[in-house]
Amino acid sequence: MSTVALITGAASGIGAAVARRLASGGARCVLVDLDQPGVERLAKEVGGAWLTADVSLPESSEQAVALAEEKYGRLDLVHLNAGISSGVDLAHFDLAQYRKAVGVNMDGVVFGVNAAVPLLRRSGGGAIVVTASLAGLVAYDGDPVYTMTKHAVVGLVRGLAVPLAREKIRIGAVCPGFTDTPLTAGMRDAFAGAGFPMLTAEDVAAAVESAFYAEEPGTLLVVQPGRQPVPYRYAGVPGPAGGQKPPSLG
Ligand SMILES: NC(=O)c1ccc[n+]([C@@H]2O[C@H](COP(=O)([O-])OP(=O)(O)OC[C@H]3O[C@@H](n4cnc5c(N)ncnc54)[C@H](O)[C@@H]3O)[C@@H](O)[C@H]2O)c1
Repeated sequence: MSTVALITGAASGIGAAVARRLASGGARCVLVDLDQPGVERLAKEVGGAWLTADVSLPESSEQAVALAEEKYGRLDLVHLNAGISSGVDLAHFDLAQYRKAVGVNMDGVVFGVNAAVPLLRRSGGGAIVVTASLAGLVAYDGDPVYTMTKHAVVGLVRGLAVPLAREKIRIGAVCPGFTDTPLTAGMRDAFAGAGFPMLTAEDVAAAVESAFYAEEPGTLLVVQPGRQPVPYRYAGVPGPAGGQKPPSLG
């Protein structure tokens, strides 16, 4: 029985590289993207199914999971990857622009998890990897609202890691540095001029594949040029001075 994978934001960049990588390893893929010609072209290339949909709407994730079940009867791997820069300037606040960034980068991940978990459970378990960003771990002052959305999905992954692991569902995230994709096309020359290396989408796709199989629940893989992906470790925060532990509330 071959692996069935669902990938959002699959028409371009990192999502497309993940689709190609998983399909070349024998996975059957369900690809989701707003870009209709792009997602259809890639689905034909990798021999998968596709859905043109906006991940910021909850029904899109429901439809994508239903398509996986209808076409392939199961679901094993979910890559919640669709994302955009926010471009929000807090000094000249544009509510629609803000809602759009939160809708894709945060809501899209929450809706994706919610829609996928029941089918992953019925399939006997599986794995979810979210494309966060280095901006999910450190401050990126070029786009503070993007930084907020990526920190938020890192928090979701951390909070869900243990409960989902009890159901044999691993959840983790990749946190790539600047990656040469259409999203960063406007920065490419500045990076080249400064001699600063960028990741390729294929570098990140390799990290996504390893994140699917990470042993520790909630693994956050930092992906940087020229390095092996490395799990991020938080320093920990101080507890009460007396050293007491909180009661279990879960
Ligand atoms: N490129 C980078 O430097 C970089 C670094 C770290 C993290 N990321 C993250 O990686 C992910 C993929 O980015 P990329 O660099 O491959 O960008 P990309 O622009 O090449 O690809 C993103 C894809 O998502 C799709 N998409 C956008 N909004 C959507 C929506 N509402 N519903 C469905 N699909 C939608 C786009 O059509 C596009 O095909 C994003 O979450 C991004 O934040 C990118």
